Amino acid sequence: MIILIVGSGYVGLVTGACFAEKGHQVICLDIDQEKIKLLNAGNVPFYEPGLEELVHKNMEQKRLTFTSNYEEALAKASLCFIAVATPSLSDGSCDLTYYWSALSQIGQLMHQEMVIVNKSTLPMGTSKQAKNHLQLILNKRKKKTPFHLVSNPEFLREGSAIQDSMYPDRIVLGVEHAHPEKILKGLYLPFIKDGSQMLIMDPASAELSKYAANAMLATRVSFMNEMAALCEANGGNIHHVKTSMSKDPRIGKFYLDAGIGFGGSCLPKDIRALKAMIAQSLDRPSLLLEAVDQINIQQRHDFKEKVLSYFAKKGGIAQKTIAIWGLSFKPNTDDLREAPSLYLIEQLLNQKAFLRLYDPVALPKVKALLPSQDDICFCQDPYDAAQGADAILLLTEWAEFREVNLDKIRQLMHDFAFFDGRNLFRNDPMAEIGFNYFGIGINSQDHELSEMSEASHS
Ligand code: UGA
Repeated sequence: MIILIVGSGYVGLVTGACFAEKGHQVICLDIDQEKIKLLNAGNVPFYEPGLEELVHKNMEQKRLTFTSNYEEALAKASLCFIAVATPSLSDGSCDLTYYWSALSQIGQLMHQEMVIVNKSTLPMGTSKQAKNHLQLILNKRKKKTPFHLVSNPEFLREGSAIQDSMYPDRIVLGVEHAHPEKILKGLYLPFIKDGSQMLIMDPASAELSKYAANAMLATRVSFMNEMAALCEANGGNIHHVKTSMSKDPRIGKFYLDAGIGFGGSCLPKDIRALKAMIAQSLDRPSLLLEAVDQINIQQRHDFKEKVLSYFAKKGGIAQKTIAIWGLSFKPNTDDLREAPSLYLIEQLLNQKAFLRLYDPVALPKVKALLPSQDDICFCQDPYDAAQGADAILLLTEWAEFREVNLDKIRQLMHDFAFFDGRNLFRNDPMAEIGFNYFGIGINSQDHELSEMSEASHS
């Protein structure tokens, strides 16, 4: 069976490479010809651990090919995954332009019985509309070619995409007929440990499963960020609160880390799309998701205010040197979409601060976004970034930051503020080294301790 994957972004490329790794013939298609040129030359256009190696291996073994040519690809494939981007429109709802365009191309050019699988994140009801859309195209072509539409949302995370795809915790299939169900079950069988991971349901439920999962994760994070704000206001420590909550098996321990807020291409986009779906379907706003979104936006604003109020006592932040550690929206990716760092960079430049930026992989993408200017210095490592800095802002919890020699970092700095947007470090050891440490949701008594510590070190 030859598999066609339409859309060679994160989801499409990882999915294609993993199917190829299991021995299938896979054609990855993208309308972006530059991207296809890069891929054919063996270059993956984004950073994802292990992906380039997997792509190379499967290209060499002639199981994975890349093209922009729908006609050629559809002549060979009988199973087609659509994995194109579904970004936000200005009102937050899902922009399906790429999806409809891909589906129309398939409808115009398919010649044989086809199973079409929606991998893209799509609003509830899209599969049903897509079926009608495709049927209309085939009717116009006077073709009776049979087809089946399946909803098969993707749950992989950036940064651990290969692991998540090779060892998924569940496979969701929104499917209406036995034939496509059998084909997809066969395809996914080698990826799962047991049958309980294969979840068969109607397409609308499958579509909502994806949004519901991402919205639940986002809700947990915003909830914890609100608890963290309470800790800061009333003298508490979010680490203790999290530990206590996570001992309750009904709550569990994941997605309870307070921080500077969630970013990326998925959680922010999907809660907005779900909000739009609720408003449209139920004719009322989603009070819950509105709050989740607002708290997340507030979180980066509050972080900036914390930095500004620290410097207000020191004559203002203008002309101060601020090191930023971590620019990608989370570790192990160079993705900057909705990254809190971009907001902080803009705000601090507006305040006339000098910025020393460091990220293990995202610097080239940041450089491409920002004009070259005197008040930004792109640095080689965390030590370089800390040179002469008045404060360090840690915005992404890259593992390498845990390994830095913090004594050395402090010696390199001009002033010793450390704003930890991901709670990577703990107050007491940081205060002992002589930092004026500010985590997220750490009580005011701890701040006083760190200020005392600063006095004793200066
Ligand atoms: C998310 C989901 O986790 C995947 O299951 C889903 O497939 C994907 O969206 C998608 O829809 O394609 P991803 O965007 O890669 O994956 O990132 P996550 O690892 O979920 O992290 C999202 C954001 O939440 C990051 O900014 C992270 O720093 C933040 N976060 C996460 C917290 O602030 N606290 C936490 O406790 C956990």
